[in-house]
Amino acid sequence: MAGPGVFVPTPDADRFVDLALERIQTISQPIVVEVGTGCGAVALAVARARHDAEVHAIDLSPAAVCWTRHNRRELGLRNMGVHRGSLLAPLSTELTGKVGVILANIPYILAETYAPIGGVPRSTIVGAGDDGLDLHRRLARDAMPLLRPDGRLVLQMGDEQWRRFSLELAELGYRPAEPIRLGAFVIAPADRPVG
Ligand SMILES: C[S@@+](CC[C@H](N)C(=O)[O-])C[C@H]1O[C@@H](n2cnc3c(N)ncnc32)[C@H](O)[C@@H]1O
Repeated sequence: MAGPGVFVPTPDADRFVDLALERIQTISQPIVVEVGTGCGAVALAVARARHDAEVHAIDLSPAAVCWTRHNRRELGLRNMGVHRGSLLAPLSTELTGKVGVILANIPYILAETYAPIGGVPRSTIVGAGDDGLDLHRRLARDAMPLLRPDGRLVLQMGDEQWRRFSLELAELGYRPAEPIRLGAFVIAPADRPVG
């Protein structure tokens, strides 16, 4: 459930859940983080599917955090923390090297192609920087020390943006995989190489 000003998840959000569950399949008591959780749909689905997981849902928007907490309460989930803040800043340094998956559908739409989506603030959709990916850039850098050696980062962005950004991820030390293509955008996993 989501209220005014909070992004309503599309069915494509299930792809994030699938990519997270696949990666943590063989990990007991995995830690999963979702950045830009909105009403919490993805993080809640992971927490529900894996009761042994520790899930952290983060959003900058107070309304999003409020709805995610509401939805967590409705589902009676006890294995999920909900934090307000930017990117990974709210997480404890105790998670360093322990996170199995970091998921993020954060704003990436270019300002010139922006079209309002009913009641949702522009800042929920329009990406930062000239190419819309400054937040993703910061996230990818900050995620590296938090992730386990075999950890996975999953990002959503435009197909064209991914072509260039996947090269930046490779330079940072990720191994970008073939993305799930959904029309003009992609949901793309990038694993940390093992060994
Ligand atoms: C397009 S919505 C996606 C929501 C949700 N993941 C979904 O798929 O339904 C983007 C979300 O990112 C959040 N956001 C924007 N900038 C952020 C930041 N710097 N740190 C954390 N969350 C942010 C917005 O408040 C919004 O809830």
